[in-house]
Parts: sequence; C-alpha cells; structure tokens
Amino acid sequence: MDGYAQKVVVMAISIKELHSSLGAEIGGVDLSIPLAPDVKQEIDTAWQRYGVLVFRNQEVTDAEHVKFSRCFGELEVLPETERTDSSLPEIFILSNVDSAGEILPEENEAVVFNSLTWAWHTDSCYRKVPSKGAILHGIEVVKGGGGETRFANLRRALEEMPVVLRDRVEGLKGQHSWAWMRSHRNLPEMNPAEAAKVPPVQHKLIRKHLDGSESLYISPIYMQRIVGWSEEATRDLVDELTGWATQERYVYEHSWEEHDVLMWDNTWTMHMVMPYDSSSQRRVMHRTAIAGIDQVI
Ligand SMILES: [Fe+2]
Repeated sequence: MDGYAQKVVVMAISIKELHSSLGAEIGGVDLSIPLAPDVKQEIDTAWQRYGVLVFRNQEVTDAEHVKFSRCFGELEVLPETERTDSSLPEIFILSNVDSAGEILPEENEAVVFNSLTWAWHTDSCYRKVPSKGAILHGIEVVKGGGGETRFANLRRALEEMPVVLRDRVEGLKGQHSWAWMRSHRNLPEMNPAEAAKVPPVQHKLIRKHLDGSESLYISPIYMQRIVGWSEEATRDLVDELTGWATQERYVYEHSWEEHDVLMWDNTWTMHMVMPYDSSSQRRVMHRTAIAGIDQVI
C-alpha cells in the first residue's frame, strides 16, 4: 500500500413505500452487477413484504436481467418459442415494435397478445405450478397516458372480504387454461404439441402460503370455469371477486419511466396494463418469470 487507507464502499439500499397496500421503490442498487448476499436478502425480504418492487434507472442488458432474476429462483421458459429471444429463451418480449423499429399493425399477433394484458390476470396461472414472480424491464414506455401497470393485493382483499362472500369462495377450485384464453381472444389455435404442454389446470381460489397466510387466487382472463360450475355462473363470481379485489385501497398503479425494472409476486398479487393507443405509442418490455415452488398445503 502507498499510505492511503483502502476505501470500502458499502452500498445501503433504501426502501420507500409507494401505497398503503403494496409496492415499494428500492434505491441504491445497480442491477447490472452481481448482488452482494446481504443486498439480495434485503430485496427478497422487501419483495415478500411489499409484493411489488420498483427499481428506477436500470439500463440492464437482457443477460444482466436474466442474471439478476436467477438470484431469486429458476426461470421459466414460455410454451411458445416465437415470442422469446432466440439466444435468451428466458426473456419474454412484450412489444408492439418490429425488429426494424416500426410499430406493428393492430392485427399482428404480438399486438393482439399485448392487449390481453389489459385485463386482470396473474402470470402463468395456466401452469400446474404457477410462477412465483416476474421481473419486467421497461425499455420503451408509453408517454402521455395509458400503459401504466396496476397491481392488486389479493392477500389484503381476502382478509377484508365480507364473510358472506368468503363463504361462497371457500373450497372452490378454478380451472385455468392457456388454450381457452387464446380461443376467447381471437388468437390462432395452438398446434397439438404446444397445447399438450399446457393442459388446463386447477387451483384453489383460496391459496394457502407456506408462512400460514392466505390470499385470493384468481386470474380472470384464464379462468375457464369454477370446477363443477357453468361458464355463466363462473363469470358472475369471477367478476364479483375481481370487483372486490381491485378497489382503490388494494391497488398500486405504476407509471413507467424508461428503464424502470419492476419485480412482483404472482402468488398474492394480480395485475393489468392500462390500455393505450398501440397504433401510435411504442411500448417495449422484456420480462423474466421466476418459477414457482410446488407447495401442497
Ligand atoms: Fe402479466
């Protein structure tokens, strides 16, 4: 050493609550470099507590995005490969812009697919083991209204649910189906090989978590039926539950800035994107999904 004391920089993360029900902004973290174990632990704890974490100004590459995501579990690869980046199958591209940088026409399948996110859902509920969470990087974001993402706290919504409504939900299972969702949203039918990878699955409407807590588990656009119910009766109940769970007091709305990275818990929140004019507004998002853990409770 040449006489100068070696400087050790310890980065402290900051946590700012964004809504009384869920959501927190995390500062003091650079997602493009490996996380120190204590920082990873702090993020994990905040994620469990707030459900949705916001990291501002994170101009990460897809490889850095994947690396950060892997700190929190195994990553999912989507059933349809055409909408994932060929070199990084864990990255799911949500975009209305083609590879030449032009806005895609309204009828383009990717644009139709994007519009599905304008309805409340939880990601990958159509899997036997739905994803634990997702991490979304806003590369080009809508300016001037629309494109915000809303998140609802389904744990709080269940806790405060009127007893008469809760009694009706107790013991019910919902059938979630990727193929059914597609058939109801003007998307081309899946080929048999793709469909075989994602057969309909059933999940209880009241989800019990490993820590003993409970939450509502609904994903309206994928819920083909409540098991044993007609489609009409199913829609009535799902609409009623969605109305209850998406009251203002349970919902955080995120207004995107370029290079925001959002990380959310899919096990006790659901989300939707606010509609925007996709014929004039560019929106390019890259997402990873953290695989869930099989829990039979
Ligand atoms: Fe989603």
